[in-house]
Amino acid sequence: MTSFVESSALRTAWHPVAESTDVDQPLAVTLLGERLALWRASDGEVVVAPDRCPHRQAPLSAGFIADGVLTCAYHGWSFGDAGRCVLVPSSGEGAPIPPAAHLATIRVEERYGLVWVCLCEPAGEIPCITQEDDPAFRRINSGMQRWAVSAPRMVDNFCDISHFPWVHVGTFGGAQSTRVPKLELSDLGDGWYGYAYEVDADNPDLASATTGTADAVVHRRMSTGFHLPFDVRSTISYDSGLDHVLLLCSTPVDDDVALFTFVVWRNDDHGTDAEEIIAFDRAIGAEDQRMLEQLDGTLPLGRIDLVSVQADRCSVEWRRRFAEMIEGRQAEALR
Ligand code: FES
Ligand SMILES: [Fe+2]
Repeated sequence: MTSFVESSALRTAWHPVAESTDVDQPLAVTLLGERLALWRASDGEVVVAPDRCPHRQAPLSAGFIADGVLTCAYHGWSFGDAGRCVLVPSSGEGAPIPPAAHLATIRVEERYGLVWVCLCEPAGEIPCITQEDDPAFRRINSGMQRWAVSAPRMVDNFCDISHFPWVHVGTFGGAQSTRVPKLELSDLGDGWYGYAYEVDADNPDLASATTGTADAVVHRRMSTGFHLPFDVRSTISYDSGLDHVLLLCSTPVDDDVALFTFVVWRNDDHGTDAEEIIAFDRAIGAEDQRMLEQLDGTLPLGRIDLVSVQADRCSVEWRRRFAEMIEGRQAEALR
C-alpha cells in the first residue's frame, strides 16, 4: 500500500484534532496531510478552515483573536462567525467584501471535550460513549499528544491484549498470563465491535487512585472494541463496582505521524483529583508509544503481509474492515 491518508474514505470520517480548551487561541493542526486553522468565534462555535488566508495565503493560525474575530497577521483581514470576512483594512471600514474572501470552512463538532473534524460530507458518525450522558460518570480529558507512529499501528495495538504482559510489565501487565484465552468477536453495542475478556492486573502504587484499591493484584472484567476508522473503546469493570471506560483516539497527521488522545469516564465518587486518576493511564500509553515508535512505516494491510494468530483476531478484523474502507476494493485488500 502506498499512502493511506490519501484515501477519500478517510475524508468522510470524523477525526478528533484538538481538545475544546485548545482553541481559545488560533491553533494549527494537520489532518490527513492538510493543514488546518481552528479557533473559537464570538458565537461560541469552533471555526475550522484551511490554514491559508484567501488574500496571500499567510497561515491564519499565526493571526490573533479579539472578541472571537480572527485577524490575519499579514494585512489584517478579519474573519468572524462561520469564517465570514468582516474587514479588509486596506479597503476601509464598510467597504464591500469580495465574496471569495469568506473562508471555506470545514465541518466541525465538539463532543467529549474534543473537537472533531470531517473534511468532506460525513459518511460516518462520531463514536458513541453512553456514559457521557450518565450522571453517575465523570469525564476526564487527557490532552492531545503527538506520536511518531502511523495511526493504523496504534489501532492495531489498542485492539490487542497479548502485548500486555510484555509491553506493560512496568504498569499493570506483570500479573497477566501470557496465554490469551480464545477470543470471541461480537457486536458490543453502540457501534462498537470487539470482544470481552477477564484479566488479573498488577496494581502498583501509581494505580491505586485509578483502581480504588491498594490490593497488589486486581481482577478486571474488560471489553475492547473498535469503531472505524481509528477509535477504540476499552471498558474495565472492577469487582468493587467501579467502571472505567477509555476512549482511545488516533488521528493521522500523515502516514507516519498521529495525534493521540484518551478520554476516561468513571462512576467513582469524583473525590480524587482527575490528574491523579489518569496518571496510570498516561504511564500505560507511554509504554505503548515507546514500543510503537520503534516500528517503521505504516501497518501492512494485505492478508499475507503479517503473520497473525488467534490472539490477534480483533486486530485482524479491524485491519480487514479498515482495508475495505480505504481501498473500497475488497478483493485487493484480501489478496
Ligand atoms: S495574507 Fe492574510 S491579510 Fe493578506
Ligand atoms: Fe498497550
